[in-house]
Amino acid sequence: MKIISGPASRELAEKISALTGFGIVSVSSKVFPDGESYIRLESDVKGENVAIVQTTCPPMQDMKLFQLAFMADAAKRSGANKVTAIIPYLAYARQDKMFLVGEGISVETIARMLEGAGIDELVTVNIHSEQTLKLLPFPSKTISAIPLLAQYFVEKGFKGAFALSPDKGAMHISKQAQEVLHGETGHLDKQRDRYTGQTKQTAEGLNVKDQTVIIFDDIISTGGTIVGAAKILREQGAKHVFCACAHGLLIGDAQNRILEAGVEEIVGTDSVPGSVSKVSLAPLIGQELKAQK
Ligand code: R5P
Repeated sequence: MKIISGPASRELAEKISALTGFGIVSVSSKVFPDGESYIRLESDVKGENVAIVQTTCPPMQDMKLFQLAFMADAAKRSGANKVTAIIPYLAYARQDKMFLVGEGISVETIARMLEGAGIDELVTVNIHSEQTLKLLPFPSKTISAIPLLAQYFVEKGFKGAFALSPDKGAMHISKQAQEVLHGETGHLDKQRDRYTGQTKQTAEGLNVKDQTVIIFDDIISTGGTIVGAAKILREQGAKHVFCACAHGLLIGDAQNRILEAGVEEIVGTDSVPGSVSKVSLAPLIGQELKAQK
């Protein structure tokens, strides 16, 4: 097994290589003056099973997807055996059905493109909906960063904290966190208007008075969900509020808005490298690759 270090996830790929002992294939990349991407694998992959590590988070997720496709094509043309795509943040995963008449299913389109380029299987992290995996044209798996995120808080002294999911759909996430934190768990309810994108959150039967609450979600994008949840928690008298997510996209001023809403710390992973990526996915992905080998 060799690890191909995609331009969007070089540091993560290095960490996975260091933990597993699988060799690294460096990749040279550039963007031509006309905006097109160039990719070249810098070492031999003939006869090898390879894992390409390339997240596809914003900004420029479309370019990252094309780089991934080009790396898969280059690997196959150079004689690689099986090509596994390790895509910590899978772009377009939230467009996994035709919500409105006239839409397409973007995540399926992307996966077909990747299959055509030579990808044989996919591993991603906390995909928005596990049902999506059934749409994809190759064997696909999602692994969860939530236990690692919960462990981060245990190590900070917050064992016993309340694990909250900001909507019913994320309850499996807060339950995973609860198994590590050994506190209580609960959820809010969230309704989204498909045309305006506006959401409304409510808390039925939730009591977090004087509790330390950690909100767990798969993605923080604009921060609206966390800001709304934090407001409810503060109104209910929570003592401390933190939030954690697998994918901290933090678009625009999301980070400031969340902190201003009274959240004391935002914790994400290196699926989206940046100021909140405090937990590395390397041990999780390394374990998965070792099991596959
Ligand atoms: C949606 O159901 C997801 O689980 C997240 O809650 C959502 O994508 C977060 O988006 P935002 O940060 O824009 O509220």
